Amino acid sequence: MPETKSLLDMENRVALVTGAGRGVGRRIALDLALHGAAAVVVNDFDAERAGTVADEIRRRGVPAIGVQCDVVDFDGVEAMFAKAREAFGPVGVLVNNAGNQGGSGAAPPSAPFWEQGPAQWVPSLEVNLNGVFNCSRHALAQMVADGSGGRIVTVISDAGRVGEIGGLEAYSAAKAGASGLTRSLARLGGKHQVTANSVALGATRTPATEDILADPEQRKRILSQYMVRRIGDPADASGMVTFLASAAGAWITGQTIPVNGGYSVTM
Ligand SMILES: NC(=O)c1ccc[n+]([C@@H]2O[C@H](COP(=O)([O-])OP(=O)(O)OC[C@H]3O[C@@H](n4cnc5c(N)ncnc54)[C@H](O)[C@@H]3O)[C@@H](O)[C@H]2O)c1
Repeated sequence: MPETKSLLDMENRVALVTGAGRGVGRRIALDLALHGAAAVVVNDFDAERAGTVADEIRRRGVPAIGVQCDVVDFDGVEAMFAKAREAFGPVGVLVNNAGNQGGSGAAPPSAPFWEQGPAQWVPSLEVNLNGVFNCSRHALAQMVADGSGGRIVTVISDAGRVGEIGGLEAYSAAKAGASGLTRSLARLGGKHQVTANSVALGATRTPATEDILADPEQRKRILSQYMVRRIGDPADASGMVTFLASAAGAWITGQTIPVNGGYSVTM
């Protein structure tokens, strides 16, 4: 790798970030733009959010478009990747960030596990696992055909590593599945210089966690589980995603890297 002013260099790749209309994904899209992405495709289920973040990026002098698409919709995702290629050329960085309970923004199921059925189980699998398949499949196709390598980073949760309960059983399973798929992508992509890694987040302050963190009792309970006694910031997540997507991440693949303030540890 040539010596460079910034190790976190996106090497002029076109980036596509899913669920980037707010929260962690928004920050990732902005940081990729700041670190030398040729262009950024800002995906979100919510068109207005995607457009607003694309505007923010363009104001920083980097080409960007907002694309409304539900990552759960295979044909819609195919159309999104075609649109991205038409606008900027092949996608070279994919960040699978869209997650939680999906575009509805619904809360996780409140019923105990032994009272849950497909209605509680399926939505989480759709966005957190099937969505990662839909986007990675189309991204990898473009990266392999283009021949100049690429980066896939999947945002999972420590729930997928430790197994959370209290309505997060399906979410935990889906996130674990997404990191398993990402390891397969690493194996598939390696000979094409495409890396694939997962970043496992702990509790991070975003619109999705606003309500729970606003409750002092809940915040205290959550914080007591973290070695670093603060809630994560989208910038914490984005730092690792940007690193893995950059030139510095070229020889890191098939890994799940926790960014979690010490909520859990890997050995
Ligand atoms: N915030 C946390 O504490 C935390 C912890 C662990 C993991 N994560 C993961 O980080 C990622 C981002 O979470 P966040 O807290 O920023 O969420 P958020 O809800 O604040 O933002 C997510 C964005 O994704 C979009 N989205 C949701 N479903 C979509 C779909 N099907 N297609 C396209 N866009 C979709 C939403 O419209 C929203 O704008 C998720 O994968 C989440 O599981 C978050």
